[in-house]
Amino acid sequence: MKLADNKATLSFSNGTPSMELPVYQGNIGPDVIDIRKLYGQTGMFTYDPGFLSTASCQSAITYIDGDKGELLYRGYPIEQLATQCDFLETCHLLLYGDLPDAQKKTDFTKRVTMHTMVNEQMQFFLRGFRRDAHPMAVLTGLVGALSAFYHDSTDINNPEHREIAAIRLIAKMPTLVAMAYKYGVGQPYMYPRNDLSYAGNFLRMMFGTPCEDYQVNPVLERALDRIFILHADHEQNASTSTVRLCGSSGTNPFAAIAAGVACLWGPAHGGANEAALNMLGDIQKNGGVEKIGEFIKQAKDKNSGVKLMGFGHRVYKNYDPRAKLMQETCKEVLQEMGLENDPLFKLAMALEKIALEDDYFVQRKLYPNVDFYSGIVQRAIGIPVNLFTGIFSLARTVGWIAQLNEMISDPEYKIGRPRQLFTGSPPPPRP
Ligand code: SDX
Repeated sequence: MKLADNKATLSFSNGTPSMELPVYQGNIGPDVIDIRKLYGQTGMFTYDPGFLSTASCQSAITYIDGDKGELLYRGYPIEQLATQCDFLETCHLLLYGDLPDAQKKTDFTKRVTMHTMVNEQMQFFLRGFRRDAHPMAVLTGLVGALSAFYHDSTDINNPEHREIAAIRLIAKMPTLVAMAYKYGVGQPYMYPRNDLSYAGNFLRMMFGTPCEDYQVNPVLERALDRIFILHADHEQNASTSTVRLCGSSGTNPFAAIAAGVACLWGPAHGGANEAALNMLGDIQKNGGVEKIGEFIKQAKDKNSGVKLMGFGHRVYKNYDPRAKLMQETCKEVLQEMGLENDPLFKLAMALEKIALEDDYFVQRKLYPNVDFYSGIVQRAIGIPVNLFTGIFSLARTVGWIAQLNEMISDPEYKIGRPRQLFTGSPPPPRP
């Protein structure tokens, strides 16, 4: 961390001695005020529920400029990665800090490919679930259960364990997500194939059956690979912060990633793509484009409990760059599937246009985020709505692992243990 010339001085009106706080500067983005000594010197905590003004760590992995609507993975703009790279190259970049050359890419792809199968015992976990269990409930269980099979890679402080656990998690998430889907529809699991791409393998495990050969559609394969890239990492979002906090106790990587899956499930976070598509479906059912005005009115009414799902973001106060790329991918897939006139896509674009001209959304800088169009393109590929967040988890696994590994390899890291402002009952008066 680079010490800035600037310093912060904290003074109090009640005579508590003032104190100087060091300021550290990022390579880009906001500086930070180092408050680590605050409690020791003043007996006071800072207060920031929701962490609106709190940097929880230093990181070199992903940078977001919310005002400009910029997203960089290790310095590379998301637009460049989504159009010129594939997901496994992006995984290598996030994990190791560099885009792989041809040999490194071959080696990395081979290592991932050789770990795509899961232990045969995993299927017996699935049998314990109801067939109509939500796939995220199944996935949370399966990912945590992985730690029961890999005693040789559960020591998070061992770099070799972290490395093999990273490869296993990236390799096995598609297999587990596909198994959760097949279990729900009552079809046999499809084993991974080593001659298919990462995205192609997932498509076949999802939609192939033992009854016939499955032909991977290259347009869908590329679209899915791009969807994985767009969801791979996103700075210190709720699920990544969950993974960091969980991992800071020294628990194994599989348990920490399972905590991330559980957090991502929430509708305010990764569950928003499922919620956004359900929202579009409801508007469509109740009259379509003519009903947008009424829906927007509800979304603006705090008492309605309705939000425009897929809109708004804690950091982006401009268009989420991933949403633009997702909209383009949407058009490509809908065209390939002969769904150019898909009513939900037209409804989404009409809804976006109206919202972006509405003062409520303009004043609050609410723009479409990654979840607004991702549901439409996944539905067009044939992915069921309740599996959208499972796909998000599959893609975000590499980001969670990269962030976890960065934390663990930071000699300054400690177990995360926030404090509180206590507003409960004081002890009863002594007799
Ligand atoms: C993801 O953090 C990440 O990086 C997450 C993510 C990632 O890649 O990891 O980008 C993925 O989670 C994207 C976000 C998906 N969630 C949704 O689409 C759900 C709908 N969006 C909102 O719930 C909300 O915008 C959040 C949760 C995303 C952000 O909430 P904040 O930052 O806490 O902002 P806020 O709730 O304080 O909103 C500010 C104002 C409020 O109104 P006022 O109190 O100022 O009058 O905007 C309003 C909110 O009521 N508002 C919305 C709205 N989002 C915010 N009003 C209607 N519809 C919305 N979608």
